[in-house]
Amino acid sequence: MRIVHTLPELAEALQPYRHPAVVPTMGNLHEGHLDLVRIAKPLGDVQVATIFVNRLQFGPSEDFDTYPRTFAADCAQLEAAGCDLLFAPTEATLYPQPQGFKVVPPPELADVLEGQFRPGFFSGVCTVVLKLLACTQARTAVFGKKDYQQLMVIRHMVAQFNLPVRIVGADTRRAADGLAMSSRNGYLSAAERAQAPQLHAALQTLAQAVRAGDSDFEALQEQAMAQLRAQGWQPDYVALRRQADLGPAQPGQSLLALAAARLGSTRLIDNLEI
Ligand code: PAF
Repeated sequence: MRIVHTLPELAEALQPYRHPAVVPTMGNLHEGHLDLVRIAKPLGDVQVATIFVNRLQFGPSEDFDTYPRTFAADCAQLEAAGCDLLFAPTEATLYPQPQGFKVVPPPELADVLEGQFRPGFFSGVCTVVLKLLACTQARTAVFGKKDYQQLMVIRHMVAQFNLPVRIVGADTRRAADGLAMSSRNGYLSAAERAQAPQLHAALQTLAQAVRAGDSDFEALQEQAMAQLRAQGWQPDYVALRRQADLGPAQPGQSLLALAAARLGSTRLIDNLEI
């Protein structure tokens, strides 16, 4: 695996290829990220990963400074997963001047759910993803479904800007007890880690009720929030939405159950397709 840090090096490394298949990440990689690399590998003629902790998508009280940076371990894992080229720019490379042009995604997609609790998050994500897709000349890019709303917002951005990139969504990788893999799981204490699968369990209970024909979605969402609160979580939301665009859910549609909740000082998100 070749590792490059600058734009001229990246352009030179990409020169022989016509179809980069790209996996953008913020590093601190786990098996979920490596799945994305393995999925991307046969979808292009070169598999490119990026590692960049993007300041623009962190709120002022969020964990930009403490976000785990584990570059050496990440490189070893990427290499083992078959990655061909890693682009790991510094902030000065990707944002040589303050980023004046920003992507502003539409509020109905980006100011709900995660966007309601993390103002500006999706603008920061879209802005860096647009830049990373451009720099890496991506023709395919793979994102995890664990960040389902992120995947959907990126799909809509790519479609509306007519970017020549195919976006592929990859299933969430879970620990044996159901906890969705996430870099932020590393913040959990041992006791919190033991409790963390409750988030997935709450979504499963909700999904089972919907599959069994319960259509009182408001009540189901409230019950799931109450269940989490009783277990010591502080939920931001538990929501049933239409899978296609995260619009209001109607019985009989393909639905998505999404949740975000804080356990101690760690905020986790998860979702289930129904
Ligand atoms: O999902 C992530 O790790 C980030 O939001 C992304 C897509 C790499 C943009 O910084």
